[in-house]
Amino acid sequence: MDYKQVTQCRVCGSKRLTKYLDLGMMPLVNALETRYDAVSPKYPLEILLCESCSLSQLSIVVDPKVLYANYPYRSSISSTFKRHCRHLGEKLYAMFAQHESHRPKPAVLDIASNDCCLLREFREVGFIINGVEPSTNLMPTLDELIPVTNDFWSEKLAKSTSYVMDFITATNVFAHVDDLDDFVLGVKQALAPKGMFVVEVPYLKDMLTCGTFDTIYHEHLSYFTFRAMKTILERHGLTVFMVEQVPIHGGSLRVYASKHSYPVDKSVGDLIRFENLMGYGMPKGYVTFVEDIEDNKARLLKLMRAIKGKKVVAYGASAKGVVLLNYCGLTKDDVQIIVDETPDKQGKFSPGTGIQILHPNTMEAVHPDFILMLAWNFFEEIYEKTKHLESVHIVPLPSLRVVV
Ligand code: TMP
Ligand code: ZN
Repeated sequence: MDYKQVTQCRVCGSKRLTKYLDLGMMPLVNALETRYDAVSPKYPLEILLCESCSLSQLSIVVDPKVLYANYPYRSSISSTFKRHCRHLGEKLYAMFAQHESHRPKPAVLDIASNDCCLLREFREVGFIINGVEPSTNLMPTLDELIPVTNDFWSEKLAKSTSYVMDFITATNVFAHVDDLDDFVLGVKQALAPKGMFVVEVPYLKDMLTCGTFDTIYHEHLSYFTFRAMKTILERHGLTVFMVEQVPIHGGSLRVYASKHSYPVDKSVGDLIRFENLMGYGMPKGYVTFVEDIEDNKARLLKLMRAIKGKKVVAYGASAKGVVLLNYCGLTKDDVQIIVDETPDKQGKFSPGTGIQILHPNTMEAVHPDFILMLAWNFFEEIYEKTKHLESVHIVPLPSLRVVV
């Protein structure tokens, strides 16, 4: 068996976990198939709520070696994410200049550095860069001069290095980690005394208010409230001194923590108060979310039935897209191909549906009647690339929209 059942909260250890969502059986969203008739293994996809610390978490943990051995996701494909990283770099650089003006260059470690998208941007801003990344296929070439350790982040790894980092960034990895205690202890080990840990995770608030259930898949073990994030960091002696909400990936939390006692910004208390008001942590706070998901599915299926027989191409072989297609039960009869710019994905087949993934230039010959925007979170960027085709764009989430 390559997965295990969750029996206690990974943030606070509580065993009081209540199931509030069941999306059925789902394949591993990034396990692209090489044959059209492959049968992708499926796993339960359910969310449990911890009533003590308000963390939402999947009911199972799939073995990370199965998930990340060969990871097709490339951060750099999206110029939106590149810009996001550049802005973050500039902001952190300015903070460093304010606190440590006597030193010329801050050192940053990016955990789960993927294809070094963030590190390249930070290098241009003036950082000394380091990365840790478990996927072998994402290692930079030697001539790029980016020191990346090919491993999972852990306290043991941190102790085996001489890292003393001014900044440790972790964008879109924290929610993927089962043993958060070990992860945070490693961060603490590798931070300079005044160093800052900057962690970004998709924010549960945005998922709940927008009904964006397609961020739920087996790689995302946890769905964070700010309170749950603060609990895990402070449990290990990192003080949370600031929080921001950033638009990336449909709405994310950016949390700043340190071993040093920086003055605590007003944003911290404000967001905790908001979450208490919303009833996050109590099962009844999630009822509308579940209803929204079912409504969204029903509306999309109605539209797909209405356009049956037309040429439909889906844009973005994203993880989100696999969830949407499988949860809604869409098949090759509904969507003929998926297009995506990521070279590793082209020629492969989307898990669970077997729909083939091809280069976006295929659309020039196909002239689709409809483009289903599976990467709806990058709508503007993709729309600019596809509007000349004069297809009707279907944006399935946050709420179904048809753009003519
Ligand atoms: P993501 O939502 O998980 O970041 O996935 C977005 C997918 O869409 C990813 O596979 C890259 C692809 N993509 C393109 O092919 N072209 C684009 O212009 C953008 C923004 C994304
Ligand atoms: Zn908990």
